[in-house]
Amino acid sequence: MRPAFIAPSMMCADFLHLGDELETLKANKADFLHIDIMDGEFVRNYTLGTDYIRKLHKYSDIPLDIHLMITEPALKISWFEMKPGDYVSVHVEADAHIQRSLAAIKNAGAKAMAALNPGTPLCMLEDLLPDLDGVLLMTVNPGFAGQKLVPQTIDKIRRLRRMLDEAGYENTDIEVDGNVSFENAVKMREAGANVFVAGSSSVFAPGATVAENIAHLRRII
Ligand code: DX5
Ligand code: ZN
Repeated sequence: MRPAFIAPSMMCADFLHLGDELETLKANKADFLHIDIMDGEFVRNYTLGTDYIRKLHKYSDIPLDIHLMITEPALKISWFEMKPGDYVSVHVEADAHIQRSLAAIKNAGAKAMAALNPGTPLCMLEDLLPDLDGVLLMTVNPGFAGQKLVPQTIDKIRRLRRMLDEAGYENTDIEVDGNVSFENAVKMREAGANVFVAGSSSVFAPGATVAENIAHLRRII
């Protein structure tokens, strides 16, 4: 089984105390910082952007996990600063030439992932496997924090893990994004996920500190 990684979702961090949040995430060894980029078109929202990424690269060594929820990502990939160790994901639904976009991400020195909405079938990945460092499975419909899990995505994780292993891609990561609560994370891990986007359902959930929540999540996955 691939090791488990925690990627706190920065759209759920406290924007008014971002420096403190970053220090806490560093001190508690967050594996990645998940950065949601939305264009108001592929999803009906705006969140973080190119300058935010540049600033995080400057003030933190934690690799970024950049989730591009944008149309025609191929035209825009060069706008985003990428460092070795960063992950960048593009949605198969948003890109008619996704193979080329994945190659562009690798050329820029980052790891390439394809992202799938809950309703998009796994067969869309069949001819991309050699180009992928990982797959990001949306476990809610993307665009907003605080939504409920789409339940059939748990079995989708299991089917994807099997598909990757049978094709000889045991090292390809499966990332899950959306309502990764403590309860759901256990089921997702059992099904074969190994990168956990932790937002308002876990690391930034009220009732405990970010440090306590990270420790709890790490213990159970
Ligand atoms: C949207 C985001 C969210 C979110 C995760 O694409 O990536 O899924 O930040 O947080 P919760 O736990 O609120 O779903
Ligand atoms: Zn995301």
